[in-house]
Amino acid sequence: MKERLEALKADALALLSEVMSPQELNDLRVKYLGKKGPLTEVLRGMGALSAEERPIIGQVANEVREAIAALIAKKSEHFEQLETEGRLSAETLDVTLPGRPSTQGAVHPLNKVIQDIEDIFIGMGYTVAEGPEVERDYYNFEALNLPKDHPARDMQDSFYITEEVLLRTQTSPVQVRTMEKLQGEVPVKIICPGRVYRRDDDDATHSHQFTQIEGLVIDRNIRMSDLKGTLLQFVREMFGPETEIRLRPSFFPFTEPSAEVDVTCSMCKGDGCRVCKQTGWLEILGSGMVHPRVLEMAGYDPKEYRGFAFGMGVERIAMLKYGIEDIRHFYTNDLRFLKQFVHL
Ligand code: DAH
Repeated sequence: MKERLEALKADALALLSEVMSPQELNDLRVKYLGKKGPLTEVLRGMGALSAEERPIIGQVANEVREAIAALIAKKSEHFEQLETEGRLSAETLDVTLPGRPSTQGAVHPLNKVIQDIEDIFIGMGYTVAEGPEVERDYYNFEALNLPKDHPARDMQDSFYITEEVLLRTQTSPVQVRTMEKLQGEVPVKIICPGRVYRRDDDDATHSHQFTQIEGLVIDRNIRMSDLKGTLLQFVREMFGPETEIRLRPSFFPFTEPSAEVDVTCSMCKGDGCRVCKQTGWLEILGSGMVHPRVLEMAGYDPKEYRGFAFGMGVERIAMLKYGIEDIRHFYTNDLRFLKQFVHL
């Protein structure tokens, strides 16, 4: 009996010392110490032993049980420790790792140019006005001195919604809306940025939808020299302090006289290059003194008040300022294009 117990102990300790997982350990515990295990069986058979043998075998059996239980406890502690170490190392935070770069959004280059232009004019005392993109024919054409049969309407093939309603072809209708709202009050000093629409085929320099900024000033003693001085100040802040302007006589139905305004070519500084077609000048806007009929229709007495107005294409200004060669880049949202303007 004693030998059997010793053999049992040797087997159990050998198996336990090679145990690899908590699951295996538990299986062995059940196998050797469980109710159906060999130790229990030995203890149960003690009744058949003689009175001398019983305490001796009992003692040996207890020693075997204790030895096995002790090794199980040690192994179990070892597995618990392994588990804790594993969890700690999995949860370790390496604070010295560099952070993941997060991509940052940025203002679209067109909006940036609009903001810059607004800032310049706000600095000269202007306020920013707005008007609808779906506009009445009256404001887009008629009140700007373009009656229904006026040949100048051919210049702007339009998207009509009904006979009387269209997508505005210019931001000039906001001039009329502003004057109507102010009901003869002066001074009027606004700029108006916004989208305009024309029935054009899209190419590198044309888009059926683009952006304009309109300007309007009305007061008692406004002269053409005010227009020229204002625009000179604007282009110098926009393109640099050396920039010059040149006014060329032109025609717009809503201004008299009218002028097209050129700036010194920003590429060659006036020497002549491919961009300015060797002239040294680039056309950037239309302007003029507000036509007396336009003032009159909007409720301003042309004998008492005078004004100047101008209108420019924002895409064109942005293209000149940043050397962008195709207007379509503004609308296709190619990140390779947009990312170049993140730091503006
Ligand atoms: N609305 C004109 C256009 O789209 C631009 C323009 C010219 C606006 C002269 C004006 C102006 O206010 O006075 O071509």
